[in-house]
Amino acid sequence: MSKILVVMGSPRAKGNSSTLARQVIAGAEEAGAQVESYVLQDMDIRPCNACDACLRDPDRGCVIEDDMQALYPRIREADAIVIASPIYWFTVSAQTKAFLDRWYAFEGLEENPLKGKQLGIVLAYGDSDPFNSGAVNALRMYQDACRYVGAHIAGAVYGSASKPGEIARDEALMDKAYRLGERLGTGA
Ligand SMILES: Cc1cc2nc3c(=O)[nH]c(=O)nc-3n(C[C@H](O)[C@H](O)[C@H](O)COP(=O)(O)O)c2cc1C
Repeated sequence: MSKILVVMGSPRAKGNSSTLARQVIAGAEEAGAQVESYVLQDMDIRPCNACDACLRDPDRGCVIEDDMQALYPRIREADAIVIASPIYWFTVSAQTKAFLDRWYAFEGLEENPLKGKQLGIVLAYGDSDPFNSGAVNALRMYQDACRYVGAHIAGAVYGSASKPGEIARDEALMDKAYRLGERLGTGA
């Protein structure tokens, strides 16, 4: 059974990226996956402070005692990680970026635990154009990050909407999100 970790980086509980993420979850669960989801806004995830303690003692890892400590084992166990974020100021939200920066804690390990994992990307943005919105910047960031840690981008679901949940009107996109979940859920 595939284990999937879903992380939502919008401060809006019923926002557009979370709406798409819930579709991914529905598809993954239908495919028989075990899914755990987390809303970063409800968690205490502090920014990396560059203390480099994780590099000095890689097995101990990050020394910041916050809710990321609960996520590190979830990241390690997951076959796939889905990260849903709004586009804020031409890239992912601060909540999402803080979560991603904390992957630095894996740097000192002989093998990065992210290696070989599948990554599902979900983005929502206000501008109608993915280039003007900054969504392309975010996608490029994920490309570079995945190449660096050895993870694979399984798929990206992204679209434009403003009011919370408005994206649900885009049936084709909602279907694409569901199918990404199914694909991740079957490990395909
Ligand atoms: C602080 C802030 C910054 C934003 N920056 C951008 C941006 O750079 N490009 C864009 O297209 N939309 C931007 N938006 C609009 C959001 O991306 C849009 O409303 C999106 O649907 C929010 O997703 P969510 O509902 O998942 O939170 C911004 C919104 C906020 C609140």
